[in-house]
Amino acid sequence: MKLLLGSVLLIAAMLVVIVISSIGIYLFISSSFQKYAPPVRSSGKLKDTVLAEISKQLEEASAKQKIVDLGSGWGTLLLPLAQKFPQHEFVGIERAFTPFMVSSLRARKLPNLSFVHDDFFKYDLAETNIVILFLIGFMMPKVTQKCVKELPKGAMVYASRFALTDVQADKVVKLGSKMETYYVYEIK
Ligand SMILES: C[S@@+](CC[C@H](N)C(=O)[O-])C[C@H]1O[C@@H](n2cnc3c(N)ncnc32)[C@H](O)[C@@H]1O
Repeated sequence: MKLLLGSVLLIAAMLVVIVISSIGIYLFISSSFQKYAPPVRSSGKLKDTVLAEISKQLEEASAKQKIVDLGSGWGTLLLPLAQKFPQHEFVGIERAFTPFMVSSLRARKLPNLSFVHDDFFKYDLAETNIVILFLIGFMMPKVTQKCVKELPKGAMVYASRFALTDVQADKVVKLGSKMETYYVYEIK
């Protein structure tokens, strides 16, 4: 009888531990993969073309440039750029914890690249020369306002898939479907 009671208590304790850990894991994952823009990374032709275009601008720059990726995800764009251009400064701002941690670990040997775990709407763009964006449609009006208000004259914005709102793009590159389009803006 005692043995049976002991086994029942042990199984109950194990069930409690499993339920509590599952809730913890669920909360951790859901806080990392937020309801804003999903942490989908740039990929394929779109990624290669945006990287090539930004690289061209950085190669031609006569002074040190600051490049900020608003919603940097897994660091897919900034890691290769920071490796290629040690003379320029790169900052990624990412609010989802898991991609932020992974990208920070991957950047540990690159002194010119840092990742900030925060809401990018709190980050001041006054010193930024190039902004990179790959977000989602409903965020674009607020992001546009921020870029227009804070970026210095002459700064460039590279927006993948979703355009800024109420601002004329200086260049629109269609690589295929609308999903494979990016927009380039110079802040006037
Ligand atoms: C579609 S992913 C793009 C990732 C990366 N820029 C790339 O091109 O591979 C968009 C990222 O923006 C992040 N994000 C969305 N809103 C944000 C906010 N307000 N502050 C910081 N990060 C945000 C999401 O968590 C997501 O990782």
